[in-house]
Amino acid sequence: MIHLPLRSVLFVPAANEKAMAKVATLEADALILDLEDSAGEAEKTEALRRVTGALEAGGFVAPLVLVRVDPARKAAALVALTRYVGHGLNGYVIPKVGAAVHLTGYEAPVWAMIETAKGVLNLKEICTAPGLQGLIAGPNDLRADLRVSPTPERTELQLSLSNIVLHARAFGLSVIDGVYNTFRDDEGLRRECENGRALGFDGKTLIHPAQIAVTNAVFAPTEGQLDWARAVVAVFAQPENLDKGVVSVNGEMVERMHLATARRWLASPLP
Ligand code: COA
Ligand code: MG
Repeated sequence: MIHLPLRSVLFVPAANEKAMAKVATLEADALILDLEDSAGEAEKTEALRRVTGALEAGGFVAPLVLVRVDPARKAAALVALTRYVGHGLNGYVIPKVGAAVHLTGYEAPVWAMIETAKGVLNLKEICTAPGLQGLIAGPNDLRADLRVSPTPERTELQLSLSNIVLHARAFGLSVIDGVYNTFRDDEGLRRECENGRALGFDGKTLIHPAQIAVTNAVFAPTEGQLDWARAVVAVFAQPENLDKGVVSVNGEMVERMHLATARRWLASPLP
C-alpha cells in the first residue's frame, strides 16, 4: 500500500498533445499517463513518444506518476520506459487484468485494473502477484463485459466494487475507484465520490482536471471527523487511559482500532 494520499488519480490521454503539454503542472495526487484505451491504434507510437518526452522533462507537481501500458504493445513500452522507473516514473498500470500472470515481467511496481468479470472472479489470485501496489476499478469496461447499463447509484457494480475493496484490504493494497464520465457534472461526481468513499476506496480515478477539486474534498476527512479524531487522541493520551483498551468519548464507546483511524484522518491532507 502506498502511504501517500491517493484521493485524485487523473488519467491523462497521452495521445492528446494539449493534455500532455500541461502534464507536469497538474495538481492531482497521482497521474496515469494513458497508452491504452484513450489512444487510437494510429496514435499509439506518438503517444509513447509523448510519455517519454514528459518523463525526460520531469518536474511533475503530482507526487506519483504511473503509465498505463497497452499489453498488446508491452515490449515497446518497456524498451522506452524502463530507464525512468524510480526516476520520475513510479510504476505501471495494467488494464483488464484477469490473472496474476498478466502482471509479470514489468520489473516495477504495478497497479491492476479490475474491469472484467474474470478480473473480479480471480481477485484472490491476482492479489498474490509480486510488486502489486494497488487495485483500480474500471467501470466502463466492466459494465461492457457484464452487459449492464449505468444507474445513478451504480447498483449494477456494487458487488464488483465491494469485492475489489475487500481484496485490497485483505492484501494490504491501495484501492482506487473508477472514473465518472460526465466530467462537467460536479454534483453527480460528488455523489459518486461519496459512494466510493462509503464503499472503502482511498480515492477515485478521474478523466478531466476539473474533477480534481471535488474529489480531493470528498476523500478528505470532514470537520466533524477531525473533531472526533482529536477527541479520541486526547482521551487516549490522558495518563489514566494509557493502558486502557476501551474508553468513552462524548458518550460513545471508542476502542484502540478507532485510535488508528483517528491518527490516519489527522495525518490526511486537507482539501
Ligand atoms: N488530463 C490533462 N488535461 C486534460 C484532460 C486530462 N485528462 N482532459 C482535458 N484536458 C485539457 C484539454 O486538453 C484542454 O486543454 P486546452 O485548454 O489546452 O485546450 C483543457 O483540459 C480543457 O479540456 P476540455 O475542452 O474541457 O475537454 P476536452 O473536450 O478537450 O476533453 C475528454 C474531454 C473527456 C475527451 C478528455 O478529458 C479526456 O480525454 N480525458 C481522459 C480520457 C482517458 O484517459 N480515458 C482513459 C481512462 S478511462
Ligand atoms: Mg478501458
